[in-house]
Amino acid sequence: MSSASVGGHTGGCPVTETEQTLLNQVQAELAALRDRDRLRELVPPPAGLDLVGSDYLGLATDHRVVDAGVRALRQYGAGGQASRLLGGGSLLHTQVEALAAEWLGADATLMFPSGYQANLGVLTAMVGPGDAVILDSLAHASQIDGARACRAEVLVQYSTLKD
Ligand SMILES: Cc1ncc(COP(=O)(O)O)c(C=O)c1O
Repeated sequence: MSSASVGGHTGGCPVTETEQTLLNQVQAELAALRDRDRLRELVPPPAGLDLVGSDYLGLATDHRVVDAGVRALRQYGAGGQASRLLGGGSLLHTQVEALAAEWLGADATLMFPSGYQANLGVLTAMVGPGDAVILDSLAHASQIDGARACRAEVLVQYSTLKD
């Protein structure tokens, strides 16, 4: 890797020739995505009626949920602190999974931190080489990524939904 400065700057720092080449590549890819109307950008939360969120029941701001979260943070600390398989997680994880299993009438449950990770985890656990996954072309990115990660044959069924 070259470390010679070519005089360009990013945020006040001089950039090397290699960094400038990478920046040019990234900018070209961003421009190509913009040309194809495929550029995704973070947007501020929409004002008014929320039709894109997952907080359907408004529990994210319910004071009972928030208070319980604060109590859990004080008791167990923040974050997973380690991979659960290597001794991370907490009694709280085990308890909430037992409660969910009881509620669902299931032998056991496993909590994931997000829907994305759930789809990745479930698909890679249940499907493998020699299997086939049939996905709608409008399936969530986590289902597509999960299907690819499990090295199964991925068949895409093109959706008949129109924009
Ligand atoms: C079907 C489906 N799977 C996964 C996700 C991802 O969930 P999360 O944002 O919690 O990762 C979503 C989010 O909208 C979804 O609709």
